[in-house]
Amino acid sequence: MNNTSLPIYNSLNNANKKLKGSFHALPIQNLGKTKDVVLSEDFNARLSKIKELELSLTSPFFDSLTDPNKAIDESTNILKDMYGSDLSLFVTCGSTISNKIIIEAICKSSDKVLCQKGVHQSIYFSLKSQNSDVNYVQDLICNDDAYIYSADPQGIIDALVRAEEAGTPYTTLIINSQTYDGVCFDLQEFLPVVCERAKDIKNIVIDEAWGAWSTFDPKMKEKSAIQNALTLSKKYDVNFIVTHSVHKSLFALRQASIINVFGSEDCQAKVVGSHFRNHSTSPSYPILASTELALSHANQYAVQYSNRINEQCEYLKSFINDLNLFRCPSLTLEEEYLIQDPTKLWITCTTKLLSGAKIREILFNKYGIYISRYSHNSILLNLHHGISNELIGLLTNALCEIDKKYKTKNNLLNINVGDIANSFYILYPPGIPILTPGQTICNNVITKINQSIFDDTSLLIVEGN
Ligand SMILES: Cc1ncc(COP(=O)(O)O)c(C=O)c1O
Repeated sequence: MNNTSLPIYNSLNNANKKLKGSFHALPIQNLGKTKDVVLSEDFNARLSKIKELELSLTSPFFDSLTDPNKAIDESTNILKDMYGSDLSLFVTCGSTISNKIIIEAICKSSDKVLCQKGVHQSIYFSLKSQNSDVNYVQDLICNDDAYIYSADPQGIIDALVRAEEAGTPYTTLIINSQTYDGVCFDLQEFLPVVCERAKDIKNIVIDEAWGAWSTFDPKMKEKSAIQNALTLSKKYDVNFIVTHSVHKSLFALRQASIINVFGSEDCQAKVVGSHFRNHSTSPSYPILASTELALSHANQYAVQYSNRINEQCEYLKSFINDLNLFRCPSLTLEEEYLIQDPTKLWITCTTKLLSGAKIREILFNKYGIYISRYSHNSILLNLHHGISNELIGLLTNALCEIDKKYKTKNNLLNINVGDIANSFYILYPPGIPILTPGQTICNNVITKINQSIFDDTSLLIVEGN
């Protein structure tokens, strides 16, 4: 086998060599790139052994995921205690399958379902295959500039109440409680209103894929799904089913997901049955073991991680706002049931010349820093548990270099649309003048000149005619 016959292996290997750290998801991918990513000393040692657990053993030598009575049963009991849930299930094929498990368990064609529009594709497809009677509540746009949407909590409450009053109440509500863009439901405020006003609601499904961390966070836990599901399910006799993608924000392998159920035995039995039907019959034991490891680590070190993230966020805001080229805007959330995610930071560029896509490209190609979400003028940082202070230093250094480059060159290029050029302006490569003396400067030329600041082209300015 030669190198050219391994495109996937080679492509991932090359990207991995370049990568210094990711401000997206999967905190474990930052391990070994910079120091002090994890806070527990023995975590790395344990995680490094996990690939050896790629085994195909079942009961009585290990256990069965769908009919557990040994180690997996013991571990899910630990999770139940940790979350206070009535049922906790491991899923090793991502929250995509967790959502399918949940929807197939509780949504029948006779049910009336109200669903937030901004939910994951897995929810749409599962509702469709269940033939559910579903209405969607449109999301709100809370930042035109970057196309950031949030849920419309008041719209959801109004739709629930209207259906109650019309005598055709909804039985199931489905929401995405924390978007990747950084807008979260304040579930401590929202859910009690839903339970009070929509008396016929039986099931509330909360996809909190991005928020596994928030259960452990001293400030966010009261506003996120687990704590509220725990207090409200008994009080209002409502089933709450919560999904977390553990790999997105905690130190677990990719596709680690969990489902927590707070509710009736009937609901639990339906979810167990659907888990059995929909889960792969070859669950990944490394993912399973890494989920257990990640949750135990998060439970133990949550306060330290939260403090580190808060400090990093404050530091970044003041550093970035002191640069010429970048700003950290805060989102305007007018809804009383919404809050800003404290782990997400948008960085906006003050010049139209540098797009979000271009910043992202420079950060990865030149500095090995990976950003996922961007808009025409912004990039989004996800300050997850895998962001070390060293990585923050690499990022600020990169932004500072881009800023300096812009400032120096911009001072040299003090020309405006409508001016008459008195020099040759030559971009190399290819070495063809884009402006010659006597030519009137147009917008197109300014854009080309300014883009050369951030490209690998040199701009030669030669006086004369
Ligand atoms: C809100 C939401 N739910 C579910 C998923 C699916 O998660 P997974 O990638 O673990 O299958 C995603 C993926 O990004 C998501 O954003």
